[in-house]
Amino acid sequence: MPIDFSKPLYALAPLAGWSDLPFRAAVKLFGADLTVSEMISANALAFNPRRCEKLWQKSPLETPYAIQLCASDPKILQRAVEIINDQDGIDIIDLNAGCPAPKVVKNGAGSALLKDPALLFSMVSAIKKSSRKPLLSVKMRLGFGTKNGGALARACEEAGADFLTVHGRTKNGGFSAPVDYEAIGEIKEAVKIPVIANGDIDSYEKALTVLEITKADGVMIGRAAMGAPWIFAELKERRKSVSTARLVALSHFDACIKFYGERGVLLFRKHLHRYSRGFNKAAAFRRAINNETDAGAVRAMIEEIMGA
Ligand SMILES: Cc1cc2nc3c(=O)[nH]c(=O)nc-3n(C[C@H](O)[C@H](O)[C@H](O)COP(=O)(O)O)c2cc1C
Repeated sequence: MPIDFSKPLYALAPLAGWSDLPFRAAVKLFGADLTVSEMISANALAFNPRRCEKLWQKSPLETPYAIQLCASDPKILQRAVEIINDQDGIDIIDLNAGCPAPKVVKNGAGSALLKDPALLFSMVSAIKKSSRKPLLSVKMRLGFGTKNGGALARACEEAGADFLTVHGRTKNGGFSAPVDYEAIGEIKEAVKIPVIANGDIDSYEKALTVLEITKADGVMIGRAAMGAPWIFAELKERRKSVSTARLVALSHFDACIKFYGERGVLLFRKHLHRYSRGFNKAAAFRRAINNETDAGAVRAMIEEIMGA
């Protein structure tokens, strides 16, 4: 098993639009145990694989590494898996069974797979049948409208999933309903495979509490890592204020420019909005970078606001 579940695992959540290669590489420097690609549409991968290349490429730091697929049709899912089979360095294929975005759900993908355990079973089976990668996982929620996570999790297990990540909300709970950690604990009891708990984990104490309540095999961190890749060192080792914002922001910026070219300047704006939180004159800094497209100029602005 390329994942060590003998001690709690700290994973970075897939975050569409955020957790690209340069960001995941930054997070790995602070000890994240597992990283997952942004969700990739199986359709796009199956019919236009070259367009998805930047989405699935990984940094050499990322082992183990998971690719997350979003799909509604088992046949297209299998075609996407066959393309991934030919790529080296991918340890896990993860199925997205949680995205609540209307355009995804309307197409029968993401959280729509939670409407029926049999449907989820058929999708996980499709990956199981075609994947040549070591592991298969599912990232799910507690249910669609009502909580039936136990039945859904068992369907995943029976279809061959090696582990699960559970975001402790239903689809209807979106991103702000209270996270039901007890329900994650019930899912953990319902299956034999490892379960990773997810939802609103943002501190060392919170991670310990969640592990205690759920008895889960690990935790997954999403929003708390945005603009703070160092949170993994704080969570795993109780290191207070690891924040080395300037150093991290600059090296993350450089990695982004290397990966995307000048387009990286625009893509990096959202990260800078987060990194600059709490700094003097942050509002003026954000306005200035929003109007700047030159990488050298933006780099100089980062150095100026965060101190040389
Ligand atoms: C901007 C954003 C993008 C997300 N993209 C994905 C995605 O691509 N795949 C996925 O399974 N979940 C995605 N999620 C959900 C997160 O992975 C995670 O389950 C959720 O944010 C709860 O964890 P948190 O409270 O630690 O952020 C996304 C969430 C956010 C806020």
